[in-house]
Amino acid sequence: RRKHRERLLELLERTAAFYVRFLWESTEAAPARQYLVDRGLDEAILREFRVGYSPSAWDKVLMASRKGGFSNRDLYDAGLAQKAKGEGRIYDRFRGRIMFPLADIRGRVLGFGARALRDNQQPKYLNTSENDIFHKGRQLFAADLARAHAARAGEVIVAEGYTDVIALHQAGLRNTVATMGTAMTPEQVGELTRLAPRALLALDADAAGQEAMIRAAKVARGKKLELRVVELPPGRDPADLAAEAGAAEIRRLVEASVPFVKFRVQRALATGDLATAEGKDAVLGELRPVFAEIPASVLREELVSDVADRLDIAETLAAQLLGRGGTAP
Ligand code: CTP
Ligand code: MN
Ligand code: MN
Ligand code: MN
Ligand code: MN
Repeated sequence: RRKHRERLLELLERTAAFYVRFLWESTEAAPARQYLVDRGLDEAILREFRVGYSPSAWDKVLMASRKGGFSNRDLYDAGLAQKAKGEGRIYDRFRGRIMFPLADIRGRVLGFGARALRDNQQPKYLNTSENDIFHKGRQLFAADLARAHAARAGEVIVAEGYTDVIALHQAGLRNTVATMGTAMTPEQVGELTRLAPRALLALDADAAGQEAMIRAAKVARGKKLELRVVELPPGRDPADLAAEAGAAEIRRLVEASVPFVKFRVQRALATGDLATAEGKDAVLGELRPVFAEIPASVLREELVSDVADRLDIAETLAAQLLGRGGTAP
């Protein structure tokens, strides 16, 4: 069993190298190279992340792997091949896509995230399916590359996606990892606490990303992980912003991160109905459990004041309706 696993890891490593060569050396990958340039990603950082391209043919990885002495079973078990329904024909899972190797904390490739080149190609991302080696919910993308930097900085930046991480590393923010989607798992929170005592959440500034940060805080509750939020312009993600506004601007936004509770209060005020008394009561109800965990502090007073202002009620009333806080740390 152990031997089989080592064999699969070797196959995955070789395949990652194959995709990298194919990206930089093949004529077929010219549009992929152009796509990456257009997204503002440099060759040096793409090579560091071992980004590659999979041939559009049905059997290129199959053939190369067989030549290297690997069996069909190895290819299935590594998540690189699949079978057509009914017939027994086996073919490459990843074809004509930009390949992001997904490595563990030691840098060993366990699977791939694969992006379509065109936005009308579905699905946008195709990942290695859950198998004995790869469990998406247990991994943080780029944990291997970010680890030393996160330890040194005492904080880890958490984005959603592959391109966000690569763009942030290119901007000099080398302590960045990604959840690879929107729902943070307890295992991922555990990984974060091992990387640094503080996490700066930089998920997409769309409804899904904002809700994901609120859920992430619930998963991280009671864990030794201080949470802050990087506020991005509406609708953007870190990669968009790095491409549009540049490295300095994205570094400035990360520098200006706010405590999670501040983000949480602003979100309730932004999504609530502040035009009616019932709407205001609903916002206060939503925020009461949030305030229950904020100890008496200047920050707490500031947030109470913000709520009072936005609800257009007296501060003493806001303080009373928001309830008592936690005890000071
Ligand atoms: N994701 C996924 N499968 C999908 C969609 C998303 O695994 N069908 C994961 C990927 O890790 C992706 C992340 O969720 O990077 C965030 O999704 P999204 O914001 O939609 O994609 P971006 O990372 O912004 O991708 P891009 O900028 O390349 O469009
Ligand atoms: Mn998203
Ligand atoms: Mn995104
Ligand atoms: Mn994006
Ligand atoms: Mn006031």
